[in-house]
Amino acid sequence: MHSFIVYTVAASLANLVQFAAADHRLVYDAEGYNGGAFGRRPNQTYLSTKIASPLFQINSWNRTTTDDSKYLFLGLWNPLGGSAGPMIFSTEDFSLVYADWSWPSTHNTRVQKFKGVDYLTFYEGAQKDGHSSGNCLMLDSSYNVAYNITTRNVSSTVDMHECEVTEDGTVLISVYESIWTNLTGVGGPQRGELLDSIVQEIDIETNELLFMWKASEHTNVTDTYSHYHRSEGGWDFFHLNSVQKTKEGNYLISARHFHTLTYVNGSTGETIWTLGGKQNDFTDISNGSATDFGWQHHARFRDDDLTQLTFFDNHALKTEIGCKKDCSRGRHVELNYDDMTVRLVQDYFHPTSLTSTARGGYTVVPNGNVLISWGVNPAFTEYTPDGECVQDVQFDLWDPKAEGRGHYRAFKMDWVGKPSWDPSIASVIEPYGGSKVAVSWNGATEIASWELYTGDTQTTVTELSHTIKKTGFETIMVIGPGPKYARATALDKDGHVLGKTPVIDLWSGETTPVIEIPASVAVSDFLSGFYLYFLRIISFYR
Ligand SMILES: *[C@@H]1O[C@H](CO)[C@@H](O)[C@H](O)[C@H]1NC(C)=O
Ligand SMILES: *[C@@H]1O[C@H](CO)[C@@H](O)[C@H](O)[C@H]1NC(C)=O
Ligand SMILES: *[C@@H]1O[C@H](CO)[C@@H](O)[C@H](O)[C@H]1NC(C)=O
Ligand SMILES: *[C@@H]1O[C@H](CO)[C@@H](O)[C@H](O)[C@H]1NC(C)=O
Ligand SMILES: *[C@@H]1O[C@H](CO)[C@@H](O)[C@H](O)[C@H]1NC(C)=O
Ligand SMILES: *[C@@H]1O[C@H](CO)[C@@H](O)[C@H](O)[C@H]1NC(C)=O
Ligand SMILES: *[C@@H]1O[C@H](CO)[C@@H](O)[C@H](O)[C@H]1NC(C)=O
Ligand SMILES: *[C@@H]1O[C@H](CO)[C@@H](O)[C@H](O)[C@H]1NC(C)=O
Repeated sequence: MHSFIVYTVAASLANLVQFAAADHRLVYDAEGYNGGAFGRRPNQTYLSTKIASPLFQINSWNRTTTDDSKYLFLGLWNPLGGSAGPMIFSTEDFSLVYADWSWPSTHNTRVQKFKGVDYLTFYEGAQKDGHSSGNCLMLDSSYNVAYNITTRNVSSTVDMHECEVTEDGTVLISVYESIWTNLTGVGGPQRGELLDSIVQEIDIETNELLFMWKASEHTNVTDTYSHYHRSEGGWDFFHLNSVQKTKEGNYLISARHFHTLTYVNGSTGETIWTLGGKQNDFTDISNGSATDFGWQHHARFRDDDLTQLTFFDNHALKTEIGCKKDCSRGRHVELNYDDMTVRLVQDYFHPTSLTSTARGGYTVVPNGNVLISWGVNPAFTEYTPDGECVQDVQFDLWDPKAEGRGHYRAFKMDWVGKPSWDPSIASVIEPYGGSKVAVSWNGATEIASWELYTGDTQTTVTELSHTIKKTGFETIMVIGPGPKYARATALDKDGHVLGKTPVIDLWSGETTPVIEIPASVAVSDFLSGFYLYFLRIISFYR
């Protein structure tokens, strides 16, 4: 009787207490944010998971003109330090959708199709001096590793720059390998250590090596803009940072240290043409501004005729130019093969003229807008094709020393994530005796609402306490004093159960995975309690 009264009071209290999504609101305070008002690495932590996520600063956002893909994909360092991971955020409010901080560094997180199926793909591995060694992973919609792309016929592993699934069911990867060679031509020793840049095309199903191209075999070291210097692991003369395969079976290769975009013959590895650098084959009909790029990244043809070419230009490092403003930019140029001319179509400058000396990305989002990633600067900016800025977002403080806290390439696209793990639940006892219950489900994209159930025994957590629309990453619900146990159920938009959290003991905060009891057994508390006891005896003797 007594407990019944307490429970009734508790239930009505619960209905009175306001519940709210737990996520931090977006920040619209550039000065405060960059002045450290939100910490040195603005972050938010959650009750129901150990994952942290960056706190976003919105510098500008025209919601009517931004792309309406559901998710933003980034590969970031953990804002709390020590690790990195692929990250997915909602484009609605930049709330966290997925993060996995298990890796030393990650890049190029996005969705790619293989045989009509979407995979979450990213590079993971150890990073060192602008290149790295690791693997290219393809995760299925449950976040299980479906394919793990590794290198073949070389002594090193996959580099961070590329992990591009082709229409031929293959993956293009970049590889950096140390070799010993005669470097007298560039003022080096007769036996000097060179860091070679390699492209490999790997069959996804068989991991077979189908194509390999080595910069050391097809280019001339004297064409570099990097001055020879002795370096552990070899002098990085070429610095390949993107490769794309065309329908013709040839490859577009971007070499940061050559300032070149080279179109390479897929059967011979020979150069078909070169744009930029010392061996430029094109006449610049934009008064030099279509070929003056350098230290660039992420080159892609945008049409089947191979005339529209885009990339991120880090030409701030071209000291001979003495660039003062807009020294980093997204670039779109148009090639004409009839008269071998090139024309500048559009530049995408940062609203406050950020300078990014390393990394950077240029992606075209589904509505045709352009999304520029500012490399070592922790920011991305979306533009209409004609260059109007419609969104400028930071995920960390401006860093004049560019300590590499930025990212590499951002993407906006759709994704369906149905994690193989359960949703999480945590609780905190409130001063008045009730509990704040937090629920979240890392990686789950299909949750529309949460139902919270309470109960007095672990096996009778069946009293519906809240039904709440899911907003943001973590949802907080407040329960009045009384019930000892709680559990939440995640529902999709049609009300179907997607998953259930473990049962939480609201008084101790401990969670217990629940042994599902068949309906026929759960006829009464007594019987189900007996059933559990029975199960325990069985597992004890197993
Ligand atoms: C995380 O954010 C908090 C403020 O919410 C801040 O005090 C802390 O310094 C930040 N963490 C790091 C590693 O900067
Ligand atoms: C947003 O973009 C639309 C379309 O270009 C424009 O009409 C509108 O004025 C913009 N809004 C703001 C606040 O800039
Ligand atoms: C991928 O394969 C490499 C090489 O065999 C291995 O070291 C690595 O652990 C694998 N990664 C995963 C996530 O399976
Ligand atoms: C890789 O090595 C194997 C075995 O040495 C060789 O048969 C094959 O031709 C090589 N593949 C490439 C693309 O170099
Ligand atoms: C290295 O190249 C230089 C210049 O081409 C040449 O004179 C020298 O003999 C070469 N050394 C070796 C060991 O091949
Ligand atoms: C490399 O370039 C240098 C200088 O332009 C030239 O002397 C040399 O012949 C070239 N070597 C090859 C293999 O093309
Ligand atoms: C690539 O090389 C093959 C073999 O030499 C040749 O037949 C083909 O025309 C070349 N492709 C281009 C685009 O130059
Ligand atoms: C072309 O570029 C040069 C040097 O960059 C500049 O002085 C000149 O004004 C430009 N001409 C035109 C037509 O833009």
